[in-house]
Amino acid sequence: MAKILMITATSDNNRVLADKFAKTAEDMGHESQVIDLAELDMPMFTVARSKELEVVPGMKQLKEAISSADSMMVIAPEYNGSMPPTLNNAVAWLSTEWQDFRTLFNRRKVGLATHSGGGGAHVIMAMRQMFSYLGCVVLGRNCISNKNKEANPETIEDMLNQLAN
Ligand SMILES: Cc1cc2nc3c(=O)[nH]c(=O)nc-3n(C[C@H](O)[C@H](O)[C@H](O)COP(=O)(O)O)c2cc1C
Repeated sequence: MAKILMITATSDNNRVLADKFAKTAEDMGHESQVIDLAELDMPMFTVARSKELEVVPGMKQLKEAISSADSMMVIAPEYNGSMPPTLNNAVAWLSTEWQDFRTLFNRRKVGLATHSGGGGAHVIMAMRQMFSYLGCVVLGRNCISNKNKEANPETIEDMLNQLAN
């Protein structure tokens, strides 16, 4: 049994997709948790703010969830051919804690999924580039959906199997 974290960048269709991954993981006998970055509502990262703020809202919860999971899914919509600010912002905050940055991301298995307005290929590429750069092992397979194309259940199951093993 593995503990798989689902991080969603937004609270609507991508949250629904994150919940679907979580439910499937549990049906497969794994433990899962969903973290919604929009709900965490972290302040915008700036270098000045990172020196001022001792406690960043949402940071403790996010760090604990990532570090206690065996692997994670990151589920985000495409925004302007890239990733939404909630995701970029959360990773900026996490990456300022240099000691933890390596522990959190290096060699960690990550799967990518999206529910976007269109094809969603750009956000998958943007997330693949960022998480690979951070040292994660990003699954080759990803899960793309939109209003005309539901997430393929077989893809969800296969990705979860890869994240669990
Ligand atoms: C600021 C903004 C930019 C967007 N840019 C894109 C885009 O480049 N490509 C795309 O396919 N959809 C784009 N969309 C549509 C979102 O991907 C789509 O509405 C998605 O379902 C939002 O996620 P949610 O339903 O979880 O809120 C954009 C939406 C917003 C609000």
